[in-house]
This record gives sequence, C-alpha cells and structure tokens, in this order.
Amino acid sequence: VTRAPARDEAADGDPELVRVELGARGFDIVVGAGVLAEAGARLKALGIRRAVIVTDETVAALHLPALTGSLARAGIRHDRVIVPPGEATKSFDGLEHLMESMLALGIERSTVVVALGGGVVGDLAGFAAAIALRGLDYVQIPSTLLAQIDSSVGGKTAIDSRHGKNLIGAFHQPRLVLADTALLDTLPRRELLAGYAEVAKYGLIDDAAFFAWLEQNGVPLIAGDEAARRHAIVACCRAKARVVALDERESGPRALLNLGHTFGHALEAELDFRPDLLLHGEAVAIGMVMAFDLSASLGLAPAADAARVRRHFEAVGLPTGLGAAQFGGRGFTVDGLIERMRRDKKVRDGRMAFVLARGIGRAFLSQDVEIDALRALLERAVAA
Ligand SMILES: NC(=O)c1ccc[n+]([C@@H]2O[C@H](COP(=O)([O-])OP(=O)(O)OC[C@H]3O[C@@H](n4cnc5c(N)ncnc54)[C@H](O)[C@@H]3O)[C@@H](O)[C@H]2O)c1
Ligand SMILES: [Zn+2]
Repeated sequence: VTRAPARDEAADGDPELVRVELGARGFDIVVGAGVLAEAGARLKALGIRRAVIVTDETVAALHLPALTGSLARAGIRHDRVIVPPGEATKSFDGLEHLMESMLALGIERSTVVVALGGGVVGDLAGFAAAIALRGLDYVQIPSTLLAQIDSSVGGKTAIDSRHGKNLIGAFHQPRLVLADTALLDTLPRRELLAGYAEVAKYGLIDDAAFFAWLEQNGVPLIAGDEAARRHAIVACCRAKARVVALDERESGPRALLNLGHTFGHALEAELDFRPDLLLHGEAVAIGMVMAFDLSASLGLAPAADAARVRRHFEAVGLPTGLGAAQFGGRGFTVDGLIERMRRDKKVRDGRMAFVLARGIGRAFLSQDVEIDALRALLERAVAA
C-alpha cells in the first residue's frame, strides 16, 4: 500500500490518497474535506460518462445537490435512485426496488453506480452493481465514519436474509472511494461514536501507537477536528487496505477485524438488532472491552491494558458495560449470550474461537477459549 503525498508533505487541506493494491482491481481512496465536490472531475478522469446515484432520503436531503452539481459541471449524465434509510433497505425487497428502478432508467454496461451514503447504501448499491447486467462498475462516496473506514473499503457487498445479516452478496471492488470528511459534520453524534469504535479497533488489533494517538486525539476528532479525522481515516484505510490486499476473499488474516464482534453480535442479536437500543459500533465497543477483560482474566494481557480500553471508550462517550438502564430496561442473561455465541461460532469440545489480545495492538485468533472462562467473564459483566 502506498500513500501519496505523505501526510507531512501534503499541504493543509489537500486530500490524501490511499491505494488499495489488488492488481487489476486496485483502486484509490481519496480522503479530505470537500472531495465530494470533486467527484465529477475524478469520475471523468476514470473515463466515466454516465452514472446512477444511489442514496438514502436523509443523505439526499443533505448532500445530493453537491454531488449532482459536480457531475453536471463535469458533463457526466446522471440519474438517481433514492431509497429509505435504515437496515431494512438491505433486503430482497429493497434490492428489487433498486434494480427495477435502475433498469427502468435504461442503464447500460458502461453506466457506473455511485453509492452516496452509509454502509447500508454502500452494501446495497455495491451488490446491485455486482449483479446488474452481470456487473457494473461502482464508486463509493461513504457518508458515515463507519463507512469511510470500514464498509466502503473491503469489496464486500450484501443484503440481509431472514436467516441473518449480509448472507446474500458478492465480492465486488469499487473503482474509486471518495471519503469526504466534511460529510461527517451532519452525522448524528451517536452514529459518529459508533463508527469511532471501529476506528479504535484498528489500534487495538495491531497498532498500539495509533491507539495512543487516539487517547490524545479522540475527543477532538469526535468534536469535529478535521485534521484529526483525516489522519484517523487515512490510518484506518491503510490498515484495512493492507489486510484486504493480503486476503481479498477473507480466508485468514481478515479474521482479526472481528475483534469485539463475537460479543458484539450476541448483544445486538439479544436486542433484536434494534438500532434505537444498540448500534453495531456501540456493541463492538462493549465487545472489545469484554475481549480485553477476557484476555486479562486468562493472564494473556496486562490488566492495565484492559483498563485503558475501558477508560478510553468511557472518555469519548461510548458504552462499555451491560447495565440494563442503557438498553431500554432490557438486560442480558449469561445463558442467552452464550447461546448466541454458540450459534455464531463453531464450538468444539467445549471450546470456542475468539479474537483475544496479548495487550493493546497485539490481537490474535485463539481457537480454544474454554466455555467456563467465558461464562465467568459474562457473569461478572452481567452483574456489574
Ligand atoms: N461491507 C462491509 O465490509 C461492511 C462492514 C461493516 C458494516 N457494513 C454494513 O454497514 C451497515 C451500517 O453502516 P452505517 O453505520 O454507515 O449505517 P447507515 O448506512 O444505516 O447510516 C446510519 C444513519 O446515518 C444516516 N446518515 C448517513 N450519512 C449521513 C450524514 N453524512 N449526515 C447525516 N446522516 C447521515 C443514514 O441515513 C442512516 O440513518 C450495516 O448494514 C453493516 O452490515 C458493511
Ligand atoms: Zn463491525
């Protein structure tokens, strides 16, 4: 992965580039304030002459005019399909509506799908692009922090099934990602914080220096410091790009990106995936605290590191515990959570696979966490 120009050389305010090295499927991520307004010129430079913009109602009201204006200035023909916001749009019904709308617009093989929105729009539009006319190119313009550092980068696209989330999809890499930090100014604080949990995850996995930087800069980043946002987004995209280049179709190293997610998914599932009660990133924050507490209780990681993780999430305003008051009065039970995790992960001989850590920045995949140790941890967490 190369990055040009390097941060130190870039004039203040200049966008930064992260290259995702995937041979013929390689692409650039452009990070900076105002890159949305450059979309037309950047698409034109890729030879794109016609686009279908996919966005949701909320993002359309805030940011669609900047995109259509930019495409118009570049002479790129463009249509739009506006979908309802929310996870329910990532469904067969949502996909059918989008595909039929795109076909009604008379899309051709050379039409490019432009996804303007959060992970919901990116996953849905990316999957539609993967299958429309047997495959169209697409461009991601992620508008949430989570999408800018995670969902827009790996090439995973999907919709949900009644059997679970993201079960119907395709690997399909974008031609270009434009991560405009200014779009985050309109994002609700709770959504921003949820994305921040996944930012911190990259530090906790294998970059202790980045986590230490976040301990200093996390609060200003959340408050709106553009340079801090840009620095963090570039760092996360570089990290994800590195992993994706090593493991495009998720057979090995990508597993560490699931730090905090086994716990997190169990919490989300117990609350019926209700975003009003618990957002994915909030669940992952609690899950990472639990993964570090479990690692410390197994003697693998220093207790001081587990305490730092908890303290940092508390400092920025993320949830770290299971107190029912935060979740509309709905508490958790140890058996309920263990049952969810059993279903989520393969259990063999009373042991489960988990992402644990030997300390901050030292995550590893453990194949043999004993259920008894897990149960003891959950009993402490539920009682706290
Ligand atoms: N493909 C992947 O690798 C990958 C990785 C992680 C998550 N995901 C998926 O991403 C989805 C979650 O993405 P998300 O957290 O971005 O949620 P989201 O797309 O639902 O966006 C969250 C909310 O913020 C609103 N919003 C978006 N941008 C805004 C802005 N700039 N200003 C104001 N409001 C804005 C949206 O309308 C929505 O209501 C899930 O479906 C998840 O499965 C995919
Ligand atoms: Zn996640």
